[in-house]
Amino acid sequence: MIEAIRQRRSIRFFLPDPISDENLREILTAGQWAPSPKNRQPWRFIVVRGEAKRGMDEAMKAGLEKTARGEGPLAGRPEYLPNAVYTQRVMQAAPVTLFIYDSEGRSVYEPMSPADRIHEMSNVQAIGAAIQNMALAAWDMGIGSLWNGNIFFAYDELKEWLGEPGEIIAALSLGYTRRPVCPLPRKPLEELVSFK
Ligand SMILES: Cc1cc2nc3c(=O)[nH]c(=O)nc-3n(C[C@H](O)[C@H](O)[C@H](O)COP(=O)(O)O)c2cc1C
Repeated sequence: MIEAIRQRRSIRFFLPDPISDENLREILTAGQWAPSPKNRQPWRFIVVRGEAKRGMDEAMKAGLEKTARGEGPLAGRPEYLPNAVYTQRVMQAAPVTLFIYDSEGRSVYEPMSPADRIHEMSNVQAIGAAIQNMALAAWDMGIGSLWNGNIFFAYDELKEWLGEPGEIIAALSLGYTRRPVCPLPRKPLEELVSFK
């Protein structure tokens, strides 16, 4: 397993080859078996593929245009826009993108009590575990993935288009690749770990 953890890379070049239903189910099952607070299993997975990709792309583009006009939740982060445009193209090329929801999540515009915030933080940790499980399971089957945080540039548009209850936490684009990716360096463990 440590091998898969070390070798998984974020993939930004996808071939159009489809992912079989069987492989997709195995990837989703890996997400299903992640740990969660009090076994709440807050995750929901929305599979976008085929014709539905068009709606996803339109929502992403509308969100990016809105941000470029200085509107929306990430209007204050225009420096990240070029990277988000790149991510949108990668998503469009990928044969499958999973949207991972927190079914109990609250809107980013909503104020939260400390207890609600802790509840949400706990759910989000579990959802992160589910996403990583899926990325590793995919990698193990020779399928690459890209974890997308840039979807938040189109937070309102994607939410409206997907029309699901809860909050979008991330998207995971999946597909085959033939372009190898060099590993990005990691900070030395000495910098990350302290012992008491
Ligand atoms: C929460 C999260 C959001 C991310 N969002 C994006 C994204 O929107 N676009 C992108 O190209 N990469 C995105 N990444 C991938 C990171 O850039 C990548 O994991 C990091 O640079 C390390 O590279 P590696 O995954 O190949 O080891 C995201 C990763 C995480 C965990």
